[in-house]
Amino acid sequence: MFTRAITRRPSEEMVDGLTTVNRGKPDFYLALRQHDAYCQVLTHLGLDVTVLPAEPGYPDCCFVEDTAIVCDQVAAITPLSAPSRQGEQQSIEPVLAQFKPVARIPPSVRLEGGDVLQVENEVYVGLSDRTNHDGFTALKTVLEPHGYRLKAMACCPSLHFKTDVNYIGNQTLLVSPCCNELDALTHFNRIVVEDDEAYARNCLYVNGTVIVPEGFPETLAKVRGTGVETVVLNVSEFEKIDGGLTCLSLRF
Ligand code: GLY
Repeated sequence: MFTRAITRRPSEEMVDGLTTVNRGKPDFYLALRQHDAYCQVLTHLGLDVTVLPAEPGYPDCCFVEDTAIVCDQVAAITPLSAPSRQGEQQSIEPVLAQFKPVARIPPSVRLEGGDVLQVENEVYVGLSDRTNHDGFTALKTVLEPHGYRLKAMACCPSLHFKTDVNYIGNQTLLVSPCCNELDALTHFNRIVVEDDEAYARNCLYVNGTVIVPEGFPETLAKVRGTGVETVVLNVSEFEKIDGGLTCLSLRF
């Protein structure tokens, strides 16, 4: 069970956020309303939500998930890999330090939280443009002494591992067709989300409820078919800059 979340308000500069999709610029004011709704849902699901102010100079600053990997015993602060994002982690560290011991992953490696999927004490680290094997090793050094088992995952070429694979409770994953082939995931129930609903692979599981992005009926039906509670949220303005539901918070 999670009891806390950290989020950060989008900055007006989000219109210049990194993106690989061609959906136009986000509407900043709509994004603020969607962010409010996101924080309200987390609160409704029982989390004490710390909402940090936007950080000037960082268009992607609302995607706080990339700045840290938070486990029960420790939080690992990442160096962030995208040059325009390096530095976002500095203001997250003192906030997390109020709740956990923190360890810094060195800036010589590449590691972002969006590549790290934690299911109980198993931690899957996707190797991507943002996370390399040295980043995996550095995280392993921090987490293994606390009983976590880490696996490096050679995955498909997406922005982050959690672009393609997410946990929705009951030993079940949402996966891309490509990641459905990964041997390390075969002990999970797997629901394949096809490319026409690819964005909905990034659902967020919080305390027995799955938050599903609005506009993806097939995925919503598949998730509901597992018997889990669902909440649907419109996060269209974050989708325009490659941000999903998990990206918008750190949960612990
Ligand atoms: N726009 C989110 C990212 O590229 O990190």
